[in-house]
Amino acid sequence: MKIAIVGKGGVGKTTIAACLARLLGRDRYNVIAVDADPSLNLAIALGIPREIAYKAPILFNEEEFIRSRTLLPDGLYIMNPKVDDVVERFGVKGPDNVTLIKFGEVRRGGTRCLCPEYAFLRALFSHLILGRKDVVILDMVAGLEHMSRGAARGIDLMLCIVEPTVKAIDVALQMHKLSKDINIKRFEFVANKIRKESDNEFIEKYINTKVFEVIPYDEAVVEADALGISLLDYAPNSPAVKAIEKLKSKILDIVRRRNTKIYG
Ligand SMILES: Nc1ncnc2c1ncn2[C@@H]1O[C@H](COP(=O)(O)OP(=O)(O)OP(=O)(O)O)[C@@H](O)[C@H]1O
Ligand SMILES: [Mg+2]
Repeated sequence: MKIAIVGKGGVGKTTIAACLARLLGRDRYNVIAVDADPSLNLAIALGIPREIAYKAPILFNEEEFIRSRTLLPDGLYIMNPKVDDVVERFGVKGPDNVTLIKFGEVRRGGTRCLCPEYAFLRALFSHLILGRKDVVILDMVAGLEHMSRGAARGIDLMLCIVEPTVKAIDVALQMHKLSKDINIKRFEFVANKIRKESDNEFIEKYINTKVFEVIPYDEAVVEADALGISLLDYAPNSPAVKAIEKLKSKILDIVRRRNTKIYG
């Protein structure tokens, strides 16, 4: 099961991705959390010590490595590069059965074709999903580049985080449209930083549908973030965590239905 978390900058993608990853890990899923952002935000939100997270290489900065796997001497590139050792080489073990991979961003190389990088990304994504107990959670960057290229392939569920502001709603609507263009199987809006009922009504009016889950505005999230402590460690019983637990249960319903279809 591959889940991508998208939405406008600052809406809460990393907070939700990290908490969800650890909760799924506690349910004995093998979770790979992929950080598409070159910062250490996801690592810290997961509760991986800074010094360990900092040392781990950013996959897309390892240009030599990627090129050695994808490029042939004549300049052609290999469609199915070898990627089975990538998690072992680049993965950082976090708490609750979560492994973090720091992807970073696919950098624009002037006018150079990024085909090798995207071929690598696609191969890696296909490889990451092995069995019914495997979940990949992608914490996407705000831009749409990743979505329209390799990273969005084969995503089973796209969770679009939206806060009650016109700008965040606009981005969410754009993402929804794009998700249809690139054939994302399932797309759901998740409302975050909701202070009162009318906040959610405001969102639902504009998106013209019900949100999948509502996560309240919660000071504990801000405090945990400021202190650089994983929300689950800082305030495990906070309202935001409780809501993310509900979100996890709904996702597990989808996972089970999908697994029954695939594995019987
Ligand atoms: N439910 C919530 N209640 C209160 N504050 C929240 C909530 N969710 C997120 N925040 C705060 O919003 C800010 C942005 O959160 P986060 O880093 O998770 O967003 P993001 O979408 O990953 O941002 P970016 O696009 O920069 O990666 C942080 O300061 C975080 O503490
Ligand atoms: Mg983030």
